[in-house]
Amino acid sequence: MAEAVKIEASGADWEVSRLATSLGAEVRGVDLGQAQGGQIEAIRELLLEHLVLFFPEQHLSVEDHVAFGRHFGVLEGHPNLKNPFTDHPELFELAASKGGVADEWHTDITFQDEPALMSVLQMLRCPPTGGDTMWSSLHAAYDGLSEPMQELCEGLTALHDAHPHDRADKMAIHPVVRVHPETGRRALYVNEHFTRRIVEMNAGESEALLGYLTRWVTSPRFTVRYRWSEGTVAMWDNRCTQHFVLNDFEGERIIQRVTVMGDKPVGVAAPRWAPHVRKGRASAMSRHDRQLHRFLSKAHEA
Ligand SMILES: [Fe+2]
Repeated sequence: MAEAVKIEASGADWEVSRLATSLGAEVRGVDLGQAQGGQIEAIRELLLEHLVLFFPEQHLSVEDHVAFGRHFGVLEGHPNLKNPFTDHPELFELAASKGGVADEWHTDITFQDEPALMSVLQMLRCPPTGGDTMWSSLHAAYDGLSEPMQELCEGLTALHDAHPHDRADKMAIHPVVRVHPETGRRALYVNEHFTRRIVEMNAGESEALLGYLTRWVTSPRFTVRYRWSEGTVAMWDNRCTQHFVLNDFEGERIIQRVTVMGDKPVGVAAPRWAPHVRKGRASAMSRHDRQLHRFLSKAHEA
């Protein structure tokens, strides 16, 4: 860990320690249950700089957790997954014992037209060893591509769906390179969990390119890995990161999360090419060809 940088936020002294080259910082000296005004602004700025922040030893109540999330926008419940553990609709709980381990790299809910802007997660119970979470910087992943690949990707869009939640009918198309609405930085916006198909390519080309890009995003040099302790709060910018839970642990692991509603991803420019669909040849199409055709037909009718 780099040496902590001391900052002053509305009269409080905080220590900020960068955790990895591409993203991630741990912040100490903050009481998130009491934070407001200038401190919220300071947290917002730190998040734009580091993309994911960790605040150890918070132990927020449900009410404080929700109230803290509301400082950053309107909260939304999870669109697909039912939450039987709490009556609070904005708070989502995932327990490993109920099958809740997100061990595939993803940006949250990109199958929606307006994916979440940010998530705020508290670790309630974690195993004595294992169960770390990794995040990856989609800015660093974009910056690391060659110029020809950057240029190709900037002209493309991709279809995302909620197949992992058994809702493949929920779909959205987003630019492959997203421009961050606040910093203007470019992000490589495809993930192995929800992204199915490059719209402007045939199925085989799409599979090859998406396979490459989704692996590229997870290259170790773009990531940070965090070892949890109970009561730590993490928040991440969902517009320019992916995350992944290491499913290497025994025993229980419970997280609670609130999610701030997002906006429609915007690309560098309009797509450079028309969608690639083989109209009228449904029987010869791959499953993702049919899915793309269905989505585009629906969008055309609307
Ligand atoms: Fe997630």
